[in-house]
Amino acid sequence: MKVKITDVIPSVRLPAGRVGKYTIDQFEVNEMDAVTYNLKQHLHDTPEMGMIPGTYTRLWRQDETPVVMMSDTLSERRDHVDFVLSAWGDVLINGLGLGMCIDPLMEQEEVCRVTVVEKQQEIIDLVAPTYCRRYPKRFRIVHADAFLYEPEECPDVVWNDIWDTISDLNVPEMDTLEAKYEEAAWVDSWARERCENFVDFVKARIEKWDQIAKNLRLLQENGRFVDSSD
Ligand SMILES: C[S@@+](CC[C@H](N)C(=O)[O-])C[C@H]1O[C@@H](n2cnc3c(N)ncnc32)[C@H](O)[C@@H]1O
Repeated sequence: MKVKITDVIPSVRLPAGRVGKYTIDQFEVNEMDAVTYNLKQHLHDTPEMGMIPGTYTRLWRQDETPVVMMSDTLSERRDHVDFVLSAWGDVLINGLGLGMCIDPLMEQEEVCRVTVVEKQQEIIDLVAPTYCRRYPKRFRIVHADAFLYEPEECPDVVWNDIWDTISDLNVPEMDTLEAKYEEAAWVDSWARERCENFVDFVKARIEKWDQIAKNLRLLQENGRFVDSSD
């Protein structure tokens, strides 16, 4: 069954704000930004990561170089669709971020309770009050490290999303968290397959960009493209 991503996971509804080094703000993607971004994704052979114009919400960490930890762009939402559609009963999410799945989970009658485990108190202070007010009975935030947290009972469904970026280095942590909840009916981790294939993906990307750079250089020098045997 094909589902519309934005029907399963709507835009995040959080006010802009800042606590310590964490900031939430809204940003606009116009038609031109979207076209440029989508062309880049096509070049990377990841057209499914495309963007549509609109207003989005993001969570920043103010490091030396600011890092976007999470946003509710289409590709981020796509990554959470299977989880939201699989959720029922007692649901555990490791990693609060923007809490993007909380609203859609609460729409589902078969979800009794959502517990989110978050390590950073500042992110809890920034994000959790909105959801505590919105869902006083069914939402619970726990300040803990996901690897150390011990629930009284094993949840029915567990979603691990504690990573900012895709990397093969995330896989052992995913294995640990998934093994910890092996008795749950459903357990998965954000972008597991892409993390597992990360090294091959990067190699293919480098080869592709090498080829593009070579073509552009030759075009400049000789006014022609190389053919595939060059
Ligand atoms: C990418 S964000 C999560 C995005 C989230 N799925 C959402 O819907 O917005 C990752 C979150 O995990 C938290 N985190 C990182 N390591 C953690 C750990 N060991 N235990 C609990 N939370 C952790 C981060 O502070 C951050 O809030």
